[in-house]
Amino acid sequence: MENIKIVGIGGSLATHSGSLHALQTALHGAKLQGAEVKLFDIKELNLPFYDLRSNVVPSDAKLLCNSIAEAQGLIWSAPLYHGTISGAFKNVLDWLELLEEYTPKYLTGKVVGLISTAGGAQALQAINTMEYVVRALRGFTLPMVVPIPRAWQVIDKDGTMKDANVEKQLLNLGKEVFNTARQLSGVPV
Ligand SMILES: Cc1cc2nc3c(=O)[nH]c(=O)nc-3n(C[C@H](O)[C@H](O)[C@H](O)COP(=O)(O)O)c2cc1C
Repeated sequence: MENIKIVGIGGSLATHSGSLHALQTALHGAKLQGAEVKLFDIKELNLPFYDLRSNVVPSDAKLLCNSIAEAQGLIWSAPLYHGTISGAFKNVLDWLELLEEYTPKYLTGKVVGLISTAGGAQALQAINTMEYVVRALRGFTLPMVVPIPRAWQVIDKDGTMKDANVEKQLLNLGKEVFNTARQLSGVPV
């Protein structure tokens, strides 16, 4: 049986990114189930603005889209900026326009698990924004989501999860993305 591949996209431009650590935990949850996981850190990707005036396609944008095309599931983890996702995260999502040229197009047939981190008391707005994008790209979102309010209280700078309940939710999200990706690819659970 071919491995189930899960691609993670997330993080921020901050030196210590809680949304990146949350993504790492969720991908670990998928890996524990046997998934082959690949993480794309927004900061390391460092993609230029998606610009229709330019014909230059960065190699990392191609690599990202090729990896997504090969994957059955994804996990996105974004920080909440001014009630939505950050510009850096949205720019990476803009580069998924390259998937228009793929068969099947965009995220057709793939499941996406969603995570967000916020400084304030709620974090769902970034998740809601990402849901719109997944739908626009013809994918499915996992009903279970992990919004992490007051992330600074939950995730240490070194990535340690200070809240066992949140850690469990993230590991479980990875597991559920794996299970759903397996089901969508026709492998019985
Ligand atoms: C420009 C900017 C805008 C922000 N806007 C919000 C916001 O609207 N609501 C909120 O709860 N936190 C807001 N925050 C706090 C971040 O969501 C929070 O620090 C988050 O954990 C950052 O994730 P990261 O550690 O991956 O960078 C904002 C932070 C920045 C830098």
